[in-house]
Amino acid sequence: MKILFIGDVVGSPGRDMVQEYLPKLKEKYRPNMTIINGENAASGKGITEKIYKQFLEWGAQVITMGNHTWDKKDIFDFIDGAKYMIRPANFPENNPGKGIVYININGTEVAVINLQGRTFLPPVDDPFQKADQLVEEARKRTNIIFVDFHGEATSEKQAMGWYLDGRVSAVVGTHTHTQTADERILLEGTAYISDVGMTGPYDGILGVEREAVLKRFLTSLPVRFETTKKGRTQLNGILVTINDKTGQAKNVERIIINDDHPFFS
Ligand SMILES: [Fe+2]
Ligand SMILES: [Fe+2]
Repeated sequence: MKILFIGDVVGSPGRDMVQEYLPKLKEKYRPNMTIINGENAASGKGITEKIYKQFLEWGAQVITMGNHTWDKKDIFDFIDGAKYMIRPANFPENNPGKGIVYININGTEVAVINLQGRTFLPPVDDPFQKADQLVEEARKRTNIIFVDFHGEATSEKQAMGWYLDGRVSAVVGTHTHTQTADERILLEGTAYISDVGMTGPYDGILGVEREAVLKRFLTSLPVRFETTKKGRTQLNGILVTINDKTGQAKNVERIIINDDHPFFS
């Protein structure tokens, strides 16, 4: 089982990259399944139903989210009916949506779990306890379990990787919008990367207009953050190859497409 995961898609530049490169990535890597983090897909903040459906049309099987889940109020109208969308499972119990989904890929079941960290992020329930609960539930059905851990601190993400090592197929970090070069397979067979990175503007600051972010740093005055609409773009992802029987990862490979790392088919 090969699973392709695409890091935080930011605004229309990010969506354009997915539309253009997902078919090319599929041709090159032949993944059995594609997961997209869509928390910034609608102008950098949240997601709409239209975009969710577009991602599925373009060939994704699951959309994961993060701290921007509720940014577009449209989400409350469709998340409960969005079968293939998950948001962090350790949000408060009474929140709409769900944090785990099971997908059938040609007769093989895959569980995808979304969790959010608590370090330098708004308070949520304990992601480690929630992971225990969901992994135990999922392992009754399948050994192939993929975790998107949406967090800021590399320490917390490494901790989750080691905590779940041998119990899940992959723990991939999202949220920082900066790809880390620490992809590896942990000792008990879990693929790991601290952050997959982002998909969208290449010359912004984490996808946001440079001028606004700089103004904030230089003046501490309130500024409005907008997605960089013009200019060069990038796509960041990761490909995990998994042993179907054991659920252990066999290979993990970073994907990076930008002007400094051009795509070769
Ligand atoms: Fe993000
Ligand atoms: Fe985030």
